Amino acid sequence: MPAFFGKAETLFELKAELEHRFPDCGDQLQDLGHGFYLPGTCLENTTAAATPPTAWWALDSLIDARILEYSSIKDAARQLNQLERGWQNWSGLHYGRSELIKSHLKPARTAAAGQPADDLTKHAEPGRPVFAVLDHQQLVYGRRHSNPFGIDAPLAEDLPEAPSRAVYKLQEVFQRLQWQPTPDQKALEIGASPGGWTWFLARLDMQVDAWDRSPLRKDLLHMPAIRFRQGDAFKVQPGDIHPVEWFFSDLICEPERLWRYLQPWLYDSDCQHFVCTLKMKGQSDLRLLERFQSIPNSRIWNLYYNKHELTWIHSKTRPLPEF
Ligand SMILES: C[S@@+](CC[C@H](N)C(=O)[O-])C[C@H]1O[C@@H](n2cnc3c(N)ncnc32)[C@H](O)[C@@H]1O
Repeated sequence: MPAFFGKAETLFELKAELEHRFPDCGDQLQDLGHGFYLPGTCLENTTAAATPPTAWWALDSLIDARILEYSSIKDAARQLNQLERGWQNWSGLHYGRSELIKSHLKPARTAAAGQPADDLTKHAEPGRPVFAVLDHQQLVYGRRHSNPFGIDAPLAEDLPEAPSRAVYKLQEVFQRLQWQPTPDQKALEIGASPGGWTWFLARLDMQVDAWDRSPLRKDLLHMPAIRFRQGDAFKVQPGDIHPVEWFFSDLICEPERLWRYLQPWLYDSDCQHFVCTLKMKGQSDLRLLERFQSIPNSRIWNLYYNKHELTWIHSKTRPLPEF
């Protein structure tokens, strides 16, 4: 039985996605306040049963969610302590009860979240167990989840000198990938201003071609690793610049436009790795998201640092995490 934990501001997206992807289960979807779960065996006869059920709009999808019956806060804590230690709680509607239960739980043996900035390929101990209170008698819990950080903040946010907080999206991507660009690799970033991502990539010793209509923060213009072009980024095509291994986009545009623009970069260039923010206006186009997902070796993640947007990651050459 899967459970899907979302962010308050995009729960409507999560619900629409689940109804779209698991149409036979729509009426069985149970509202957790902060997410949804699918009870019983309703997935067994759907095509979705073939793949572990995860959701793009979920911050975390709990794949092996189970119900635990409890009689009191202490009883819930006792049962959880017997199962595991280091629980995360998804407080949602039952914040007080959830925190009280957690106060009786054994902590993880090692610190989890908040890795320092230069330690990108290490991340929180994956698969920490998580629980969410359903009511005063039941909670849902599990260990196998799609996001290794679960619902916790994944970063120490220790880059105050970065040109923008968007930098944390990129850090989060590399931490979830557990690999990152290597020094001297080349990148194109479209929609780069004020320069959080570009600055971060230069800090990893990459060579970055950055395009935006607006200028980068001034000091970045003097960094030898960065070449900035001001103008409409959609005009740059493979062949206009030296070959790049990485394509980055945090550009504000309709995802459909990005999709069209990406085609030559995907199929007529040697570019290998892609990290793109898909920014939504209103309800997301789920069929378009399916097209992004259908590119082999792609993931669509709702990062902790994403707002009303998702992040699409694709690599032609390196394996991606299972979820
Ligand atoms: C969210 S900001 C990018 C933030 C950046 N990744 C960072 O880390 O600081 C989106 C950018 O897309 C740019 N943009 C939107 N349409 C564009 C276009 N057609 N060509 C170039 N830049 C564009 C905007 O000027 C804006 O600076």
